[in-house]
Amino acid sequence: MGSMKSGRQLIVANWKMNPQGLGEAKFIFSQAQEIARSAPGVGVVVCPPFPYLGVLAAGRSKVVALGAQNLFWMESGAYTGEVSASMLADLGAKYCIVGHSERRALGETDAVVNKKILQGLKSGLSMIICIGEQSRDLEGAYLSLVGRQIEEALARVSKKDAKKIVIAYEPVWAIGKNAIRAASPADVQQMTIYVRRILSGIMGAESARAIPILYGGSVDTKNAGSFIAEGGAGGLLVGRESLNTKSFRAIVHAARDAR
Ligand code: PGA
Repeated sequence: MGSMKSGRQLIVANWKMNPQGLGEAKFIFSQAQEIARSAPGVGVVVCPPFPYLGVLAAGRSKVVALGAQNLFWMESGAYTGEVSASMLADLGAKYCIVGHSERRALGETDAVVNKKILQGLKSGLSMIICIGEQSRDLEGAYLSLVGRQIEEALARVSKKDAKKIVIAYEPVWAIGKNAIRAASPADVQQMTIYVRRILSGIMGAESARAIPILYGGSVDTKNAGSFIAEGGAGGLLVGRESLNTKSFRAIVHAARDAR
């Protein structure tokens, strides 16, 4: 377990469809930069809605990396309303979330997630791949479901791209304001071990070791540190609490201190 925790922790802020104005976005982002500066051992990634990305990229210092929340799987062309991976990379995005449960709920399949990953990697983006079950069962069917999500997501992804892959385990029952609860550190530890095993099977143990496994879903100031210290997570994907500067600071600091 020790070696899994010793890498640089990654904290990803998923702003979702918030905030409602550019002024507030700039403010929250400047606070995130200041927070990242106070925790140099932690990698902070902010994923704002598309329209804010270019503006925030233009004014930023390099302490925070920017990410998008989605991309389209084709390179360019007649796809009204879509945004390409190369547009994102050109604006300065380094990461892109893909397969978030809120997008899967809108019809995104594992096959679509895979196409988006291949396209994002082609443009040099690091892909934050969200996986996770709707509910748990005593027979462990949720484990096979998560295993299949990973295998399909990584189909035709080459080993050399392992360093551009991040897995975010987000059990659907633990996400957003309708969550039953956050997962426990023990739930997370079981899943981190399982996901690592699946990744080793796909990419070989050495490449798999390079892939951070994050936890996301109702992360808050009280539970953040325990997912890393006890759960063995390589970082956190934070929704609601990433928009609250005070909470986000405490979460980033908890990651810094959880060794
Ligand atoms: P939450 O969202 O922290 O608000 O539960 C997490 C996510 O959906 O990425």
